[in-house]
Amino acid sequence: MKIWVPMDSAARAVGADEVATAIAREAASRGIDVQIARNGTRGMIWLEPLVEVETDEGRVGFGPVAPEDAGALLDGTLDSLGLVEDLDWMRRQTRLTFARCGVTEPLDLDGYAARGGLAGLRRAAAMTPDAIVQQVTDSGLRGRGGAGFPTGIKWKTVMQARAAQKYIVCNADEGDSGTFADRMLMEGDPFTLIEGMIIAGIGVGATRGYVYLRSEYPDAIRVMNAAVQIARERGLLGPSVLDTGHQFDMEIRKGAGAYVCGEETSLLNSLEGKRGVVRAKPPLPALSGFLGQPTVVNNVISLASVPVIFERGADLYAGLGHNRSRGTVTLQIAGNARRGGLFEAGFGLSLGEVVNDIAGGTASGRPVKAVQVGGPLGAYMRPDQFDTPMGYEEFDEQGGLIGHAGLVLFDDTADMMQMARFAMEFCAVESCGKCTPCRIGAVRGVETIDRIAAGDARAVALLTDLCDTMRDGSLCALGGFTPYPVMSALRGFPDDFATRKEAAE
Ligand code: NAI
Ligand code: SF4
Repeated sequence: MKIWVPMDSAARAVGADEVATAIAREAASRGIDVQIARNGTRGMIWLEPLVEVETDEGRVGFGPVAPEDAGALLDGTLDSLGLVEDLDWMRRQTRLTFARCGVTEPLDLDGYAARGGLAGLRRAAAMTPDAIVQQVTDSGLRGRGGAGFPTGIKWKTVMQARAAQKYIVCNADEGDSGTFADRMLMEGDPFTLIEGMIIAGIGVGATRGYVYLRSEYPDAIRVMNAAVQIARERGLLGPSVLDTGHQFDMEIRKGAGAYVCGEETSLLNSLEGKRGVVRAKPPLPALSGFLGQPTVVNNVISLASVPVIFERGADLYAGLGHNRSRGTVTLQIAGNARRGGLFEAGFGLSLGEVVNDIAGGTASGRPVKAVQVGGPLGAYMRPDQFDTPMGYEEFDEQGGLIGHAGLVLFDDTADMMQMARFAMEFCAVESCGKCTPCRIGAVRGVETIDRIAAGDARAVALLTDLCDTMRDGSLCALGGFTPYPVMSALRGFPDDFATRKEAAE
């Protein structure tokens, strides 16, 4: 009997390790031969620990399972959820980037290859660099870290740059609130990221790669380091990748805990052992990046989406999506959500479908008041904007951004003025200090919102003015995008700002 218990940190946080131990103990006491395998998560976080029992029909799910349920699980008296693949949450997705996450054992390279892994790399290794970059361009893949810049164009710039050494740097400093796709992928299917980085290296002519992985993700760091080691031992990394003659090796570097190190130039400084402050662009990292050499800096999900584009074709990928947003978006649903987790689907679902249908509304059962999409720098979207399709340009038109595709739900008890204040406070704390609009502006922003709270109506115009200055004058997205949540709260929820004024009067 084979039983799967996730070892993803979200599952471990709610007792998955204890469940695995309890199942082993109960099996031993009953004399049942049980093989416990540890997978990543399927992304249905509200069902964790989600235990799966292998049967002839498929894997049957149970969840959330507590250690005291182990006996009933083995006796066959525990209520099941049915086949995991048949659950509504699973059936409605188009899992490409996350196809193997939660299905295989993360460090089982043979299991990885048996489920389509390495097929993309083998195909890419036989192609010219031009053809590789063209295939990525044709797929329509855009940067999943937040900015949505076309990956193929970025790769082409690096490919065409002349240099003795080029680099692939993976941005795994997933600092946005409510986001966890990078972590889930690295913990649950690390070889997909490694494969994507190797393909990028072959495409642009880079032989070394780095994953800049945030220190707050110890499980991901452990799994990625182990996966790199296995990849080296098995000839996937090294002087001749899978005996193809291409050279590529990589290592994992631990971040130092600053949000701004998710900004690519600040990340590069940190990777070089310097203080994580933002560099002015130009020069672009594509031309002068790590150690001054041409460097591809891509987010985990961008790179992890590459293998499937080569395995199944650019057309398949580009065939999914909406307008200029092609392929799949890996939505991360968090906050006050009834069903939180990871949901991968083609771009184009409406925000309302995601919030009401997929997430099932709020966990509190109260009406949804706002959804912050795109991390702490994303706008608060109101229910009357729920028709907006998930797409880069569509969100832009609404004054918002998709960012890294994290959604944080709030019910009607949320105080949007406090959320606006939090955005300014966050910027003040995380600012690298390099430019004045952000360094000083964020501090003044907190004070100005406090003045509004104290009933100073004139401070509203001042806040608007300050946001304009921060947006137009900041050097990077941290100071430049903080006005998004602030202004969306101010414009979208004026009552939350007015109440204080009336109270003060
Ligand atoms: P950006 O618009 O300056 O650049 C986007 C990317 O395209 C960069 O990698 C840039 O180097 C590259 N690029 C631009 N023109 C190019 C060219 N001609 N050739 C090659 N490459 C080119 O955006 P930025 O400031 O890098 O990122 C902003 C976004 O990052 C925001 O949407 C923000 O929400 C998101 N973000 C995400 C974080 C996370 O935790 N995932 C953390 C902080 C910000
Ligand atoms: Fe640093 Fe803020 Fe300026 Fe970005 S906007 S460079 S984080 S001070």
